[in-house]
Amino acid sequence: MVTTLSRISLAHLPTPLQPLERLSQELGGPQLWIKRDDLTGLAFGGNKTRKLEFLLGEALYQQAHTVITAGSVQSNHARQTAAAAARCGLRCILVLSAMSPGEIEGNLFLDHLLGAQIRWTGHRNGNALMQQIANEERVAGRTPYVIPYGGSNALGAAAYFEAMHEMVRQSRQAQVEFDSVLFASSSGGTQSGMVAGAAAMHYHGRIMGMSVDEPADVLAQRVRRLARLTVEYLNVRVEVPNEAVTVIDDYVGEGYAIMGEPEREAIHLLARLEGILLDPVYTAKAMAGLIDLVRNKTWRRDQAVLFWHTGGAPALFAYRDRLLSR
Ligand SMILES: Cc1ncc(COP(=O)(O)O)c(C=O)c1O
Repeated sequence: MVTTLSRISLAHLPTPLQPLERLSQELGGPQLWIKRDDLTGLAFGGNKTRKLEFLLGEALYQQAHTVITAGSVQSNHARQTAAAAARCGLRCILVLSAMSPGEIEGNLFLDHLLGAQIRWTGHRNGNALMQQIANEERVAGRTPYVIPYGGSNALGAAAYFEAMHEMVRQSRQAQVEFDSVLFASSSGGTQSGMVAGAAAMHYHGRIMGMSVDEPADVLAQRVRRLARLTVEYLNVRVEVPNEAVTVIDDYVGEGYAIMGEPEREAIHLLARLEGILLDPVYTAKAMAGLIDLVRNKTWRRDQAVLFWHTGGAPALFAYRDRLLSR
């Protein structure tokens, strides 16, 4: 159990670990399982709720008044940060990419509902704008706490160091051993924490981050660096070998936040076979990759593979028309 002085409780943990019986049967490959981090809770949940337990804990410890973070228009991280800030009684300022879209829907609608103030970057750099806003807050006599994109620093990643321990405990209880663990990887904090946690536990399952955006080598390099910073931060004496970081970029498809046919198929399959909602930006790309790898006989039938659901379903509403049209 990772404890820091300032961690707070925001998530419903442990999240369930469940077999995907109907999907496994449909695809005819290995036994597929799912880890339900879409059920962490806090305004529809997702992977960021775990990270925010550590980050908001530190914000409170530093007696911050205002939490500032950045993301895309449909950022799940921004929405969960807004919810966590509301829960902690803190002001929240979200720096969102580019310009306000015509429609306020999905996560952006929830950001408003949760009381966050929104600043659009326009052509400016998001990090620079966050620093500018932090200065404005200081001038106004308030203490800001800036959370990086995706909550992906060593403190945020520490949450997935711990989550890895949670998953391994559950899999032992369920008497299942996963050959591979797949999930959507973007700013890299989730994957960094997982590989660091796996190294600390001598866990040998393959951890496969499915890039939703960047080339594999770029993301893998970031994950390696952050995984090492995470073990350093946690003061755990463990080496994270380069080979422990696997990033697959074959399923980026048409690009970040663009939903193509494989993502649509993944969303429909999970909804109709398992009653589970994926999101079009992250988890549907990762699941589309998993489905393709199963169809290409990457695993034997007697093996087990885990899909770690990282949340994001509120973005579905912003893709409603494209999901309904055929
Ligand atoms: C639903 C969902 N899945 C996965 C990710 C990727 O997590 P990370 O940024 O830690 O790589 C995100 C990040 O925003 C997300 O919102």
